[in-house]
Amino acid sequence: MLFDESQLMTVKGMQTPFYYYDMNLLEATLKAASEASQKRDFHVHYAVKANFNDRVLQKIQSHGFGADCVSGNEILKSLEQGFPANKITFAGVGKSDKEIQIALEHDIFTFNVESVQELEVINELAALQGKVGNVALRINPNIDAKTHKYITTGLDENKFGIPAKDLSRAIKVLETAENLNFVGLHFHIGSQITDLNVFKNLCLKVNQWKNWFEEKGLSIKVLNVGGGLGVDYNFPDENPIVDFERYFEIFDQFLERRENQEVHFELGRALVAQSGNLVSKTLYTKSGAQKNFLILDVGMTELLRPALYQAYHKIEKLEKNPVESERIKYDIVGPICESSDAFGRNVELPEVKRGDLLVIRSAGAYGEVMASTYNLREEIRYVYSDEI
Ligand code: LLP
Repeated sequence: MLFDESQLMTVKGMQTPFYYYDMNLLEATLKAASEASQKRDFHVHYAVKANFNDRVLQKIQSHGFGADCVSGNEILKSLEQGFPANKITFAGVGKSDKEIQIALEHDIFTFNVESVQELEVINELAALQGKVGNVALRINPNIDAKTHKYITTGLDENKFGIPAKDLSRAIKVLETAENLNFVGLHFHIGSQITDLNVFKNLCLKVNQWKNWFEEKGLSIKVLNVGGGLGVDYNFPDENPIVDFERYFEIFDQFLERRENQEVHFELGRALVAQSGNLVSKTLYTKSGAQKNFLILDVGMTELLRPALYQAYHKIEKLEKNPVESERIKYDIVGPICESSDAFGRNVELPEVKRGDLLVIRSAGAYGEVMASTYNLREEIRYVYSDEI
């Protein structure tokens, strides 16, 4: 059960909907990730895009993780929350001049560069500031991450990374660019990857590319293998913390690295997903000709993943019914005027009545951050476990 008796009493008196962050679970997750990575001398940058809630960021930062940012504002936010600039990476296919300038001003750890043109722009802007930008080249390794097509990024047909045919040109630019410092290679092949074999394949591709660059005389200090480690959305209670040992062990085993080479990761979801839950109240119950609907006070405006990716989140009733009833199949939907505004179809729950609280689990990653004010919805609230 997510809440004990006394917490449940408090929650029942609270205004819904809200994200509920389990700070103990977050702490335990971060501890597991940092132990498993540190013992192999691996560097982890937290992918800020997964959740940039202030206290979540502060806790992550306090464990010594760096930050992986995809906008100028994420860089500024990370600095504000105490992440050191020399642990900040900056990725993204469309970095604006203003964002590049922000990153240069703060001397971040690396730009993960996604095109030859971007290399040239960073060089020019760095020259104007009298700075040298650290750059890693993002290579698209053409690996199938075996995940949802909207969150696959490492295939040739995706917009990410420098296409292989442009790499020789990128090296030419690096040879003459006075305001660029080449530090290494970057890869990221997708998100919610649960088949760990995919990461083994990634290692083998990284080894090949590393050799290719070294043969051309480039020295590689940083191997950044991105993020993508998936979590168990089906059984959040059975598997609240990802097996970080197994994950990092794969890279330890299959990635070839020299003494002076550093391995970097950009984990988002695996660090925060299970620590977030979305608490909601049932506004109405309704029976159609064949279906029973539960209409919640939370919708795709607060948690977009089911509508956008057909993502599954476990849904539970928070309070037991006084008398145990048969389980009923419900379609659980939100209040927004869009047919895709649904959280689950044919979900079996004990009987639910108007006013009953439901919780949508594993919503700590790409939840609060993807909320919108479509329909002029109220801004989503959040509560931390140590505050109730
Ligand atoms: N590094 C890069 C370059 C990325 O693009 C991403 C995520 C990450 C790291 C972190 O990936 P993670 O460890 O969290 O899988 N909104 C989608 C997920 C989008 C992921 C985008 N890139 C969702 O709700 O499933």
